[in-house]
Amino acid sequence: MKVLITRKIPRVVLDHLSKHTSLQIEMLEGEPLTEEQLIQKVQDVDALLTIIPDQITKAVINAAPNLKVISTYSVGYDHIDLKAATEKGIPVTNTPGDLTESVAEFTWALILAVAKKIVVSDKYVRSGCFKCWEPLLYMGPRINEKTLGLVGLGSIGCHVARMAKGFNMNVLYYDIKQNQKAELETGAKYVSLHDLLEKSDFVSIHVPLLPSTQHLIDLNALKKMKPTAYLVNTSRGPVIDEDALAKALEEKWIEGAALDVFEEEPHIYDKLMSLDNVILTPHIASATREARIQMARIAAENIIEVLINNKTPTNLVNRDLNA
Ligand code: DGY
Repeated sequence: MKVLITRKIPRVVLDHLSKHTSLQIEMLEGEPLTEEQLIQKVQDVDALLTIIPDQITKAVINAAPNLKVISTYSVGYDHIDLKAATEKGIPVTNTPGDLTESVAEFTWALILAVAKKIVVSDKYVRSGCFKCWEPLLYMGPRINEKTLGLVGLGSIGCHVARMAKGFNMNVLYYDIKQNQKAELETGAKYVSLHDLLEKSDFVSIHVPLLPSTQHLIDLNALKKMKPTAYLVNTSRGPVIDEDALAKALEEKWIEGAALDVFEEEPHIYDKLMSLDNVILTPHIASATREARIQMARIAAENIIEVLINNKTPTNLVNRDLNA
């Protein structure tokens, strides 16, 4: 059976898969494949191990008559046409769990970096501008006892909330459902999105990309935020309307933003590029050695569960498949 891995990922994936001699593994390197290239490559594959930039469209799925499982090397699966996979009876799996702490840590790195002006002040020093200690240079907010607003209180949001305890923060959250168990554990308080935006000093996004979350943070949402507030996104780019955000940053409706994800990755909206009150990072929130190695192991296990053990994979995403 053929397994296609569309991009070089940690070797552990090969260690796991190659224990099964019935699997013939191909791991591609280099540029992400276009839809046309994917259509050519999947024609005889039994399992597809895919990454976020691959667009696994209906056409790609239809071009793979032997396909038995799509295992994505990510938690998010918005790059896969789930409906088309489900119609074909193909399980889609992801890699939840192990990246939670890593993404939460990165969220905090962004909050601290943007609030404490780390990136701009580093540029200032390197460009020789540091001539004298300045009482008013790069002043920003203290974080201790401020209000953190989490849009989404899933496992990553919960971990960010736990870490906020170290800063004695007041934590608010908005989600489609109130989560009393998480509230008890983290101390986060459930509020409407409107209240969260109005009251928070730091707003951090932790929702998946769904039709209902696309542009959840639009012009109106940004207008509700405090002029001293910061917006951080480590979830998916299209949750924020980038054009609206650029306007909000330019016109100082908010003080700053830090983005690890973008509406049309890897393209970065031009207006954001020229602003110095936004930090831009290349979708690396989960990029710890620990998380990326575990993700490779889980992605391989997801394939083994289907192809070798012939069972419903633990990390099945299209749960209605078995309904
Ligand atoms: C994911 O897994 O969805 C992250 O965005 C990348 O690790």
